[in-house]
Amino acid sequence: MVNFAIVAAIATFLTSSKAASSHCCRKLTKAGLEGKISYPKDETYKQRIGSYVSKAAQVPPHCVFQPRDKNDVSTAVRALVAAEPEPCQFAVRSGGHNTIPGASSISDGVNIDLGLMNSTTYHPENDTATVQSGVLWGSVYSTLDKLGVMVVGGRSASVGTGGLVLGGGNSFYAARKGLVCDNVAQFEVVLGNGEIVHANNQDRSDLFQVLKDGGNNFGIVTAMDLKTFEGGPLWGGNVVYSQSAALEILSEFVKFAHKLAEDPYASLVTYEAFLPDIGEPMVVNSLEYTRPVERPEPFKNFLSIEGKMSDSTHITNMTSLSREWEAPNTYRVSFSTVTTKNDLRVLTKAHELWLVVVQRLKTEAKGPWEGHQLYQPMPPTFGKDAIAHGGNVLGLDRFDEALILYEPYLSWTYPGQDDMFNRQAKWLRDELAAFAKSIGADNEFICLDYADADQDPLGSYGEENVRKMKAAAKKHDPQEVFQKLQLGGFKLSKVAEPDERGHDDL
Ligand SMILES: Cc1cc2nc3c(=O)[nH]c(=O)nc-3n(C[C@H](O)[C@H](O)[C@H](O)COP(=O)(O)OP(=O)(O)OC[C@H]3O[C@@H](n4cnc5c(N)ncnc54)[C@H](O)[C@@H]3O)c2cc1C
Ligand SMILES: *[C@@H]1O[C@H](CO)[C@@H](O)[C@H](O)[C@H]1NC(C)=O
Ligand SMILES: *[C@@H]1O[C@H](CO)[C@@H](O)[C@H](O)[C@H]1NC(C)=O
Ligand SMILES: *[C@@H]1O[C@H](CO)[C@@H](O)[C@H](O)[C@H]1NC(C)=O
Repeated sequence: MVNFAIVAAIATFLTSSKAASSHCCRKLTKAGLEGKISYPKDETYKQRIGSYVSKAAQVPPHCVFQPRDKNDVSTAVRALVAAEPEPCQFAVRSGGHNTIPGASSISDGVNIDLGLMNSTTYHPENDTATVQSGVLWGSVYSTLDKLGVMVVGGRSASVGTGGLVLGGGNSFYAARKGLVCDNVAQFEVVLGNGEIVHANNQDRSDLFQVLKDGGNNFGIVTAMDLKTFEGGPLWGGNVVYSQSAALEILSEFVKFAHKLAEDPYASLVTYEAFLPDIGEPMVVNSLEYTRPVERPEPFKNFLSIEGKMSDSTHITNMTSLSREWEAPNTYRVSFSTVTTKNDLRVLTKAHELWLVVVQRLKTEAKGPWEGHQLYQPMPPTFGKDAIAHGGNVLGLDRFDEALILYEPYLSWTYPGQDDMFNRQAKWLRDELAAFAKSIGADNEFICLDYADADQDPLGSYGEENVRKMKAAAKKHDPQEVFQKLQLGGFKLSKVAEPDERGHDDL
């Protein structure tokens, strides 16, 4: 049931063009890209397909193409689009941490894997770091930490820069600096006609804006200039509580989220966790302070709550901290999201729903599994920072209040239990959204980086932004290469025209 849009798209593709697609990898070879293509029998292919974070997303393509630079990407796009007897379908993959099967993978097409485009180059002259879009955040941090500078990026070392930035991106530094996408100074992009262009505040500023959370609808991003600032040590870690502390923590969360702007060095992710080996639901506060201050003031109340099981907070750096956030790639994973107002009734409900699902999974799950449910504050500064940086398409400036980003995150082992786990995840999401609506605490925004296949993040940004994205796609991808040949991800062509949508802007 979940991911049905992608599954249906793959099924249609298989029946319509299976015979045709086998010529596509040969077209790349003919275009001069031999030596950069691997097939199912090759170690490289096995290793790359096996490195998607969710086993359910390890969809086997006809071949994996690994460009070394932007020219390889451009050559490949031209060859795939021009292929006879029909153009070739492809997927684009950076870190492979999107969990939707087919979002950055493709069955029987060409998997364009940016993994070897993994350099990070610091430019002190203009306070940017150029990251090639296949690099993982852990590698970005280890390069920059040594130079004493930092960028606003993902929390986990194993996540890719490409997907996270194009989906918005939350960060330990976001309350201070804005979302990850807002800290891009320039994108380097291969368009559907193979042209390599730059998009920034001056040149192609329309493309620049829509790449900030518009996903993979406009081109293949080959590099990004990320704004740098002074880095250095920070404080952070996880404080784990038994679930008896849950209501007190959630109440503190709401107060914290309301006044996050007062001390934006603070960053909080609260999550519920269930690990069968421990057997008891736990609540975890991931506390970070992006300066080297131990147990800083904004977290005093959290730290005095009774029921602590462990506390790993310490002075550290982004390289180390991001490693603590790495996820194993041994599970099948589902995550999805709902945004709500910052209201204790919503969090209390989320906690109750969580305990119900944990009970169900305890009896039904087979083999290793674990469950998490995350709450992240979204301060109103995210919307304001976006405007200051030249604009994006999230539309968060519509909401002048603190919000909560809710994300159920389930991990399991048996393919035969995909439906059962996906159903539980969807139940959590739907029940929470319905409850929030019933008390007027709902919010229409859907975060692209956490959305599941049956959600519509692009359509949730408001009419004006949908219009902006459609206009930019028409202008920069008139052949609709990224709608018709790259099926994975959230497709703009599936989002209703603003005129058909009624008035959904606030
Ligand atoms: C363990 C873990 C931790 C996470 N932590 C955070 C976090 O701290 N903050 C946050 O905001 N999100 C976080 N996420 C969510 C994450 O941002 C998304 O899963 C994101 O899609 C991952 O990016 P990726 O490059 O690894 O994904 P991929 O699966 O490689 O790509 C995701 C999508 O982006 C497209 N894409 C990727 N690169 C390009 C490119 N260069 N050009 C065009 N299209 C491209 C793909 O086609 C695909 O549709 C986390 C996820 C996990 C599993
Ligand atoms: C880039 O990728 C190659 C191949 O996987 C790897 O050997 C190298 O260490 C990576 N470099 C960085 C900076 O991550
Ligand atoms: C980051 O922290 C780790 C662990 O404390 C340490 O080994 C490493 O040297 C630090 N890196 C930098 C560049 O400070
Ligand atoms: C920053 O400087 C580098 C090196 O001179 C250059 O390649 C890059 O385009 C510049 N980036 C921006 C955003 O000006």
